[in-house]
Amino acid sequence: MYRYSVALVAFVVLCGFAANKYLAPMPYDADTPVSSILIALGDEKPEHYIGTLDMEKVGVGKDIVMTGGEWVNGQVTNRVSEYFKCVDCHNVLPESRFANDNDPESRLAYSMEYNRPYLPGSTFYGITNRTSWFNGDHEKKYGKELIEPARHDLVNAIQLCSKECSVGRMLTKEELQAVLHYLTTLELKLKDLDLSDSELASISAPGQTEEQKAQNIRLLKSKYIRGYPATFVEAIDPKLRKKGEEGNLENGEWIYKKSCLHCHGPGKVTKKTVFGNGEGQKDFDWLVKYFKKSNGGSVYWITRHGTSSSNKTPEYMPIYSKEKLSDSQIEDLAAYILAESMK
Ligand code: HEC
Ligand code: HEC
Repeated sequence: MYRYSVALVAFVVLCGFAANKYLAPMPYDADTPVSSILIALGDEKPEHYIGTLDMEKVGVGKDIVMTGGEWVNGQVTNRVSEYFKCVDCHNVLPESRFANDNDPESRLAYSMEYNRPYLPGSTFYGITNRTSWFNGDHEKKYGKELIEPARHDLVNAIQLCSKECSVGRMLTKEELQAVLHYLTTLELKLKDLDLSDSELASISAPGQTEEQKAQNIRLLKSKYIRGYPATFVEAIDPKLRKKGEEGNLENGEWIYKKSCLHCHGPGKVTKKTVFGNGEGQKDFDWLVKYFKKSNGGSVYWITRHGTSSSNKTPEYMPIYSKEKLSDSQIEDLAAYILAESMK
């Protein structure tokens, strides 16, 4: 906030000195949506653009995302999926100080600082600002036919994830509109971009030429991630695994509690593999036994392969790309698991 007010004052004063006719009030503040600045600069509106928010729709959309369906008389009805809700895999809040930062180490530090889950899906915060979805290796899991239409169309991406990732159904037209209204409330704001004072002055300068506007559009777009990359990697070679001997315990504990237990905690989405159910000791011992293996019991393997949905076990575990969980974070997790097993 402070930075922006300083910039604003400096800007107004400078303009005042330069020429009185430029003494216009700063048009933007820290909470101005990035999309409205882009549009003011002449950028094309995205297909999923919602001009005026309908708060009733926002509420319905929020219920679908947060509770998994329509919230009626204290109960969830019309569920999108019997097994999942969107927030089992996605955050709705920022995962980094600035929107151009996708480094797993800084995302983890941010999650620790703000007490947020650390999840395999990308955050919904800023999702309407992106121009491509399901990037990178997601094709390997879902196939080209499903991914291609979702790559450049947010509506298709939402439908793909409602049906396939959530093991559910597609949203109705009304539900989809509601979810888009809600997601629009999570769009990037000016404060989410790492802009210098002079960059800020440049984008808000009055009387820009077409050339300057185009330049400022490019500048804004360079300040946030427009398509989250996703790289699927193989599990660390069993011979190279540290198997808990080395790693950051504090990080490992956070990953275990805010990522694994997010689904594996008692009463959460998993049925077969429940951790932390009062027999913690046994869980950790069990996980340690599998460190060397390349199968579902091994944290090294399962994080990179996930599981598949089947008729018997419709709930499945998503693959963590290396952007969502780094190899060194897996070593941190192993170190925590080993330390707990020895308690
Ligand atoms: C079981 C886990 C899971 C659930 C439940 C889930 N998703 Fe996803 N979703 C993912 C994964 C994994 C990806 C791909 C990685 C990513 O987000 O970048 C993804 C991607 C997406 C994307 C594209 C994100 C991007 O920036 O590329 C959208 C949009 C999306 N999901 C919407 C939804 C909605 C809406 C729901 C609820 C109706 C939902 N998802 C439920 C796991 C899930
Ligand atoms: C989005 C939800 C989700 C997250 C997050 C998640 N899992 Fe899973 N995991 C599942 C589901 C669902 C299954 C399979 C069905 C079941 O156990 O009910 C599973 C299965 C497993 C299994 C057993 C696999 C087998 O073949 O028996 C292990 C071990 C496991 N997960 C470890 C982890 C660890 C470690 C983490 C954290 C890094 C983690 N999971 C994060 C949902 C999740």
